[in-house]
Amino acid sequence: MGVNHRIIVVHQTLIERHKMTLPKSLTVQIGDTVLLIGKDRKPFVRTVRQGRVIQTHLGEIVFDQLIGLRYGEKFYTGNGQFMYILQPTLEDVLTQFQRRTQIIYPKDLGYILLKLGLQQGMSVIEAGTGSGAMAAALALMVGDEGHVYSYERHASRLQAALDNLKMIGLDERVTFTLRDISEGFEQKEVHAVFLDVPNPYDYLDVARAALRGGGILGAIVPTANQVIDLLTALYQGPWFMIQAEELILRSWKTAPARVRPDEQMFGHTGILVFARAIHKEVVPEISS
Ligand SMILES: C[S@@+](CC[C@H](N)C(=O)[O-])C[C@H]1O[C@@H](n2cnc3c(N)ncnc32)[C@H](O)[C@@H]1O
Repeated sequence: MGVNHRIIVVHQTLIERHKMTLPKSLTVQIGDTVLLIGKDRKPFVRTVRQGRVIQTHLGEIVFDQLIGLRYGEKFYTGNGQFMYILQPTLEDVLTQFQRRTQIIYPKDLGYILLKLGLQQGMSVIEAGTGSGAMAAALALMVGDEGHVYSYERHASRLQAALDNLKMIGLDERVTFTLRDISEGFEQKEVHAVFLDVPNPYDYLDVARAALRGGGILGAIVPTANQVIDLLTALYQGPWFMIQAEELILRSWKTAPARVRPDEQMFGHTGILVFARAIHKEVVPEISS
């Protein structure tokens, strides 16, 4: 097995210590990863362990007192401050990921899943893995029956992403491969390919070779220059339904007496480009 095909293996005990099981029951169990949040909405995503105590700006939290609470229930810190115990969403858990790279933000993640047409049981390729945020969202979407093939050329990033996915128990739905994608993908006939690399236009041939006819290509790039290069390349190749889109999210103040947009907003993440893979055979010229 060559270096480029190596699947990274991690130290199991390290992961077990940090493992976050997204809770499914109605009451808090040992081993559940929970969201603890008070009036100021500063979130704490932590795993429930017997004897665990943490210090927060709202006071001490004794985890033994949380076991058996119903999700949604209020509890009090050592300082008498109230907090609620909730099930964390993937968005909450992403805040706990080790970040070695820029990640795809939640506002884009959800829309990309929709645009890639993903459902339970489907297969999807993504590159680069980066910190694994996109891989986690893809893995959640395709379920146990589907699979995610994630490619990254930096070993340390791949390792960190694998650790992140193990932490939330989604790693078995993902095959991580250390490889520069200029060498191509190993899979064929996948439902979708998503590229989060600086030069996606250089990998359209390898993406098309991995996709089934009608399969969906997606990419995210931060600058207009990259969008132009990508669109130019797409229009020259076996692609159809080419789209470029940007999502702008503005959050609002929710106090009923003064409901209005926040003054601050996250202005720019990236431009999303999508296209469908087609069979573009060369039609031979008919000689007269
Ligand atoms: C912005 S990060 C991806 C972030 C990821 N989508 C996430 O949500 O966490 C881009 C990654 O692509 C990787 N990359 C860039 N070019 C690549 C290539 N040709 N082959 C494999 N990985 C590549 C980089 O090493 C980097 O880790």
